[in-house]
Amino acid sequence: MKAAIMYETNKPLKVEKVTLDEPGVNEVLVKIMATGICHSDLHFMKGEMPAATPVVPGHEGAGIVEKVGPGVTTLQPGDHVVLMVSFSCGKCRFCNEGSPTQCIENLPIMSMATLPGGHTRLHKGDQALQHLFGLASYAEYTVVHERSCVKIRDDAPFEVVCLLGCGVSTGIGAAINTTGLKPGESIAVFGCGGVGLSAIMGAKLAGAGKIIAVDTLSKKLKMAKKLGADYMINAKKEEPIGRIMELTGGGADYALECIGNVDVMAQAFASIRYGGKFIVVGMAPLGTMVSAAPFEFLLGKTITGTVQGDIKPSVDIPRYVDLFMDGKLPIDKLISHIYSLDQINDAFRALERGEVIRSIIKF
Ligand code: CU
Repeated sequence: MKAAIMYETNKPLKVEKVTLDEPGVNEVLVKIMATGICHSDLHFMKGEMPAATPVVPGHEGAGIVEKVGPGVTTLQPGDHVVLMVSFSCGKCRFCNEGSPTQCIENLPIMSMATLPGGHTRLHKGDQALQHLFGLASYAEYTVVHERSCVKIRDDAPFEVVCLLGCGVSTGIGAAINTTGLKPGESIAVFGCGGVGLSAIMGAKLAGAGKIIAVDTLSKKLKMAKKLGADYMINAKKEEPIGRIMELTGGGADYALECIGNVDVMAQAFASIRYGGKFIVVGMAPLGTMVSAAPFEFLLGKTITGTVQGDIKPSVDIPRYVDLFMDGKLPIDKLISHIYSLDQINDAFRALERGEVIRSIIKF
């Protein structure tokens, strides 16, 4: 089967023939039908986040279970699944306290780029290949842990629901779960890429009052308006903090930073009201720092962050799929480009140039 391999950072991926072992204990073989081109992979490909190489990236996958390994109880061949970027073991303190996206095993899997348990199933000749996020979805097939999958209904289009594996559920979840937003409350969303636009859809769904979109590209702001934003601020033309203060009468109840830029994070924190909540959603390069005046904390302002929007995958993913199928969550509007696996480097170039909203690879 074919897979896209990253041999070293800052070099194009190579689409090559590779071999994949049979699924082991608690693992399943998934035929990938569609996979998203996400910024998080780009961070690893540019060396801004560390990853063992050679590695098969890709973490927003959707497909069909072809085979199950020994001990698998939750899935069977033929099941349609979405792969989850954040693994949850179901046993640790965080999983048991209802925060599965903070699972103790999640970070090690991400940094080691192996399956849960520390092993790999992919090879190129006699060389082992790593599985980024334990998923490696830039491949025709993958072997993943059964807990990396969420079973979904059979009639949902793979090319849309694959986006729920990371970016889209991160945005929706951040706006609904991490904020705790109540109907009528205001929210400012900094950065209107795939995650930010998903946050706007989530805020709309949760009944937010004023939804304020901030970006530097007018075409992204146009999209934000289409998906539910009430006010659009072009930060190239207008100073966003003052404008948000004005619109909300003293600051937004919530602000989300969906880019991963520390200067924008400082702006977002400055744009919330006393007692408001600022949430880091974007992934800033490792080693960067964000600073804030301690006095702001005396005013009850909060800074927090989120992994995958604090969703409970087995509950929230099927729910988001239903909402999409019922026309209440127009995730499909985010998809601007569709590529084949062989075009993967074109897809990443277009992503870097800001030409796409969300793009996917269809198999
Ligand atoms: Cu992602």
